[in-house]
Amino acid sequence: MKDVKDKNVIITGAAMGMGKIFARKFALDGARLVLVDVNEEALKHTGDEIRGLGAEVATYVCDLSKRSNVEELADKVHAEVGKMDVVVNNAGVVFGGPFLEIDQDRHDLTLNVNAMAVIWMTRAFLPDMIEKGAGHFLNMASASGLLGLPKGASYAASKWAVIGFGESIRLEMAEMGHKNIKVTTVAPSYIRTGMFDGVNAPLMTPILDPEDVVEKAYRAFKNDRIIMLEPFMVKVTPFLKGVLPPPIFDAVGKLFGVTRSMDAWKGHG
Ligand SMILES: NC(=O)c1ccc[n+]([C@@H]2O[C@H](COP(=O)([O-])OP(=O)(O)OC[C@H]3O[C@@H](n4cnc5c(N)ncnc54)[C@H](O)[C@@H]3O)[C@@H](O)[C@H]2O)c1
Repeated sequence: MKDVKDKNVIITGAAMGMGKIFARKFALDGARLVLVDVNEEALKHTGDEIRGLGAEVATYVCDLSKRSNVEELADKVHAEVGKMDVVVNNAGVVFGGPFLEIDQDRHDLTLNVNAMAVIWMTRAFLPDMIEKGAGHFLNMASASGLLGLPKGASYAASKWAVIGFGESIRLEMAEMGHKNIKVTTVAPSYIRTGMFDGVNAPLMTPILDPEDVVEKAYRAFKNDRIIMLEPFMVKVTPFLKGVLPPPIFDAVGKLFGVTRSMDAWKGHG
């Protein structure tokens, strides 16, 4: 299992939800933490809490939806903390509802925070890992990166991007001989953090507990696993999608309630 003691770990979206739980796990294992979030007040609170566990913690308020902000963040982190060993790309937003009824600015924001920021963060911190000869990206995707999500189209698009980007970088690193630079992608279904309040859980796909998901994702990361899918129905989705003709796969999704699951979404964006 990977040892993160004294490693530099940067976590985006660390103020709340699963980012905060990841921060706690890394802190308890002795990592040096860089916590990033747009929510200044919540980030300060989380920073204090994680410091209380005995970890060295630096916090940076940053709106990751703009490339220049991410570049500025990277410059500051490099100057004030140093080179990173682990990047946890966790920050995310969602705006549920019919595609045409959602403001285009919100679609842009979703793609920028959920997908483009992952690319910008990778560009900013991958050179650190190449220089050190080792590193790891832990990317939070979603089950919606494996199939279509009506009333969550731009969110699904952003998560498809995270899965494809992570897989590509992982293969590229291996091809280039950087065998100790890893990518772990996490793709769970709905989790009880508030982000997806109101959704209807599809059949056999219970709303997951955030502590449990982060525990499994952290274990996947520590074991250098390529992808973590949760729960069982998500694990079998790639197989079903590969073997069933598309209209049959769509019918199964409809039968299980996936296609209507966002109808009553009232979570936070
Ligand atoms: N909750 C779910 O059902 C679920 C399911 C699968 C995947 N995910 C993914 O897991 C990750 C964490 O989700 P969560 O449920 O803990 O959500 P959350 O809303 O509890 O936390 C998201 C964090 O990201 C931060 N953030 C949002 N926009 C930002 C920006 N522009 N710049 C910097 N930080 C920003 C928020 O302030 C917050 O602290 C997200 O990528 C999400 O898409 C969530």
